[in-house]
Amino acid sequence: MTTPWNQRCAQRMQWMRASTIRELLKLTENPEIISFGGGMPAPEVFPVEAFRAAADRVLARKGATALQYSASEGYRPLREWLVGYMARYGIEAAPENVLITSGSQQALDLIGKIMINPGDLILTERPTYMGALQAWRAYQAEFVSVPADEDGLRVDLLEEALCAGPKFMYILPNFQNPGGITLSAERRLALLDIADRYGVPIIEDDPYGELRYEGEHLRPLVVSDADRLNSAHSSGGPRYYDDHLVAHAALHGNGRAFMRGNVIYLSTFSKTLAPGLRLAWLVAPVEVVQRCVVAKQGMDLHTATLNQMIAYEILTSSDDFLHAHVRLIRDVYRERRDAMLAAMDASFPPGVTWTRPQGGLFLWVTLPEYLDATELLQVALTHKVAYVPGDAFHPDGGGRNTLRLNFSYCDPARIAEGIRRLGGVFYRAIEQHALEASAVL
Ligand SMILES: Cc1ncc(COP(=O)(O)O)c(C=O)c1O
Repeated sequence: MTTPWNQRCAQRMQWMRASTIRELLKLTENPEIISFGGGMPAPEVFPVEAFRAAADRVLARKGATALQYSASEGYRPLREWLVGYMARYGIEAAPENVLITSGSQQALDLIGKIMINPGDLILTERPTYMGALQAWRAYQAEFVSVPADEDGLRVDLLEEALCAGPKFMYILPNFQNPGGITLSAERRLALLDIADRYGVPIIEDDPYGELRYEGEHLRPLVVSDADRLNSAHSSGGPRYYDDHLVAHAALHGNGRAFMRGNVIYLSTFSKTLAPGLRLAWLVAPVEVVQRCVVAKQGMDLHTATLNQMIAYEILTSSDDFLHAHVRLIRDVYRERRDAMLAAMDASFPPGVTWTRPQGGLFLWVTLPEYLDATELLQVALTHKVAYVPGDAFHPDGGGRNTLRLNFSYCDPARIAEGIRRLGGVFYRAIEQHALEASAVL
């Protein structure tokens, strides 16, 4: 007898859906299709030669260690390196606050695993990152969302959503995926203030913060949260750093105090080195890291030792390798973003609007309300151009007339051609609607 597998599956499978983007990526493997669909870095910017040389050195000098099992927390030298790297952006942490994960996607799953009970409510921006929804739906989370405008999350609408009692808020402050928008400095402070008053922690997901093409770097939420707690302490409020934790850190010889606070910070090497590495990190109070470590042991024991050691080798191979490499990426992506914006200005019809991101990989398009981006994708595919329809980024419905475009993957000439084709699709759809409307009259 063959097993009826669907009867053997757990109930939670009802809540798991294949990612629209992953499905779409399969379609766009056809090289004739100009794809603005995935969130893929430009393959031209991968530091392939640096990886080859670093892999050689690791295998020649520490081959047996690199091929062995290792600590669930991650490769200690890499965690120490990250502590120094993040300190440049004001993030004060000890290695004990850092967990290496197999991509930020795993960090999102770990957070779900340690924090979400069936039926728990999570507050997100609208639109938000589809991968987080996918990870947390598996834990039977429910969502309440707050809209975002060109300055990011509408914090003026936050309190009403907080009254519903979410377990945590999921925020993407820089060049948000999918919207490409950035949370303004004023709103960051207002958000922290409200989060503190309601006692709701924040997951700050920041894969794109380094990829800024213009404007000033803004303080991460995790930094302003620390500032706030420290100043509360100096004015007699609760202490940000615990005495016994400081002593513990000193005992470990790194002399750094452990971080505490209301924010869990996530970042990744996917957009700055290579996504195929599957290497990212989570920064959180020790009690969160320790729980994530236990949860991670059940997932993959640890992130690949070899990948961590190669990444560490590259990062320490020359003075400031990462910053020099990120500068190159910024130049390439800035040019591509500008090519896309110029092509849209030239070939998108009136009535279609879009964001002008200061960084990241994406921009967000809003079509007239009567158009459906999922239906139009079928038409676009016949013209060999693809995008991601926006409804999948809306946790609680809506967004059918929106879509996400990626500008990092295609070169400027393909971007211009793809946007020209897409402009044609939108023009024809708007004309068709006008014709139908006049026929009704
Ligand atoms: C907002 C956001 N979070 C997390 C991820 C997952 O990144 P990683 O490749 O590190 O798993 C992505 C990837 O595109 C993302 O856009």
